[in-house]
Amino acid sequence: MDYVSIRVSTLRGDQKIDFNAYIKINDKMVLYLRRGDSFEGERLKRLKDKKLRKMFILNDEESKYRDYLQKNIEMAYDERSGKDINARAEIVQGQQQSNTEEVFEDPGNVESYNNTKDAAGKYVQFLMSNSKAISAVMNISNDDCNIAHHGVTVSTLSVALAQKLNVTDPKKTQLLALGALLHDFGHYESGVALNRLTSSFTKEEMNIYTGHADLGAQKVQDKKHFDQTVINIIAQHEECIDGSGFPKGVRENQIDPLAVIVSSANALDRMITFEKMPRQDAVKKLMIDQVGRHPLNHIQFLGDILKNT
Ligand SMILES: [Fe+2]
Ligand SMILES: [Fe+2]
Repeated sequence: MDYVSIRVSTLRGDQKIDFNAYIKINDKMVLYLRRGDSFEGERLKRLKDKKLRKMFILNDEESKYRDYLQKNIEMAYDERSGKDINARAEIVQGQQQSNTEEVFEDPGNVESYNNTKDAAGKYVQFLMSNSKAISAVMNISNDDCNIAHHGVTVSTLSVALAQKLNVTDPKKTQLLALGALLHDFGHYESGVALNRLTSSFTKEEMNIYTGHADLGAQKVQDKKHFDQTVINIIAQHEECIDGSGFPKGVRENQIDPLAVIVSSANALDRMITFEKMPRQDAVKKLMIDQVGRHPLNHIQFLGDILKNT
């Protein structure tokens, strides 16, 4: 029998699946999720705990899976669906994460890039028009420090921050959201587990770490379908306005303004996700220990955004 792989991050929400999902153990397909199962709350948590990225379905059930995805996302974006915002946010977050993984795995694929870009535009609307959406997405914890999930979190914080800064031009916010999703492509490419505390890195790991922004940008700059703004965000998201960042150590006037936003949001989520710091402590740390590295109003607005989550 023929199987095709599906992403676990797309299995979200209370809609029942009408296909069977398998996992591969020692080259054998084992039935793992049955027709009739759904994935909210505890069940989703258990599934996430397994840290599985991919499952398999039978080739001839692929259209059922596509229908499931379509219905799920339509429901999640429908204001009048009557569904709980947390369930909707889980589906939407899962879709963004899955899109990000797809571009990471094959950045040369024009269709996945464009798909991810369109979906990022819709995501901006979802976040900006639902006051509770931001906190619902922020409350989906990234326990295993997944880089694509971190991308979605940084994207969410960047869009929320842009809204506070009155950056609302849909073209700009779409590229901001997309660039933030993809900002750590270099980590994905380096293949080293860099999603840990920087203080625990060896010298060699530190070199790879400080090279990730350049590496990510290099890998995509020859791809014509990549927007220049997105490449800028990948290249500059670790730069700081006072020149203390990396790789170039340039100052604010040489950084793409959208990359400055992503840099602030990224610095905050680095502490929350990878250093497991309580949110308000992370804001305080940005304010006190990292003063001058990020615009003060960014830090204040990020503090306000998290206060409401
Ligand atoms: Fe980074
Ligand atoms: Fe990051």
